[in-house]
Formats: sequence, C-alpha cells, structure tokens
Amino acid sequence: MSAPSVLLLNGPNLNMLGTRQPDVYGTATLEDAVAVAERAAHDVGFDLTARQTNHEGQMIDWIHEARGTVAGIVVNPGGWTHTSVALADALVVPEVPVVEVHLSNVAAREPFRHHSYVSPIAVAVIAGCGIQGYDFAIRALAERISNR
Ligand code: DQA
Repeated sequence: MSAPSVLLLNGPNLNMLGTRQPDVYGTATLEDAVAVAERAAHDVGFDLTARQTNHEGQMIDWIHEARGTVAGIVVNPGGWTHTSVALADALVVPEVPVVEVHLSNVAAREPFRHHSYVSPIAVAVIAGCGIQGYDFAIRALAERISNR
C-alpha cells in the first residue's frame, strides 16, 4: 500500500517566521517548522506536501484540489484563523481530518485571537508549542487516520 498523502498548509506571514516577532513566534524559520513536520511524517509513514501562501484564494484552491487526493490536512491558518469563514468552509470540502496548529498560545494573547473559525471543524488544535507543535500535529493526524 502506498503512503497516505497529507498536506501541511501555512497561511499569511508565516513565510516571515524567524524574523517576525521572535518574542512571540521564536527564531525558527518556516523551513525549520516544515523540517519538523517532515521528520514526523517520515516516522509515521506519510507522504507530506508543504505549502505556504499569503493569498487566501490560493489557499482555498489548494484545499479544493486536495479533495480525493489527500488523507488529512495540518493547517496553520495564521491570521485567517480569526477572520475567514471562507477558509473554514473550504477545509470541510476534502472530507478528511484537519488538525489546526499555532506556534503561539492564541488563547493567552489578544481577545481577537481567542476565536477560531477553523477549530469547530478541526479534529485537534495544538497551540503554544512553537515549531514542535508541527510534530504533534502530524502525529495527531496519524492517530486519526489510522483509526478511521
Ligand atoms: C498564529 C497565531 C495567529 O493569531 C497569527 O495571526 C499568526 C500565527 C500562530 O502560529 O501562533 O499569524 O497562527
């Protein structure tokens, strides 16, 4: 049997990790976060594709294309977490488990970060673990997929 394909999606401004508010997000880069996810994916036997965009329509197109081709999605929606009904609507289209990940503990930050449009459709939410959260997210997804 071939390895399940999973998608790692990073939203706006996450390409700036490492230089962007290091006091909040740490000094690791997006490349470092993807490497953590890739290692976990290798461990659990996933074939991982990682993408980042600052354009909401692009993100939604990728999610639509995932329907029928991926077994699960890990997403850090960045600021769209708190604003985008459209992203949450798109994430149910592939009908696969979705794990939401945030580097920072959004619940301990400004009130506008306390609400997530994505959490209600996610099977798990990981926040506040920095880039290690990407490892946890992949492993949480693996649990879900193997129990399906
Ligand atoms: C974030 C948290 C969001 O509130 C913020 O807009 C981001 C990053 C995180 O990973 O902690 O861009 O998703």
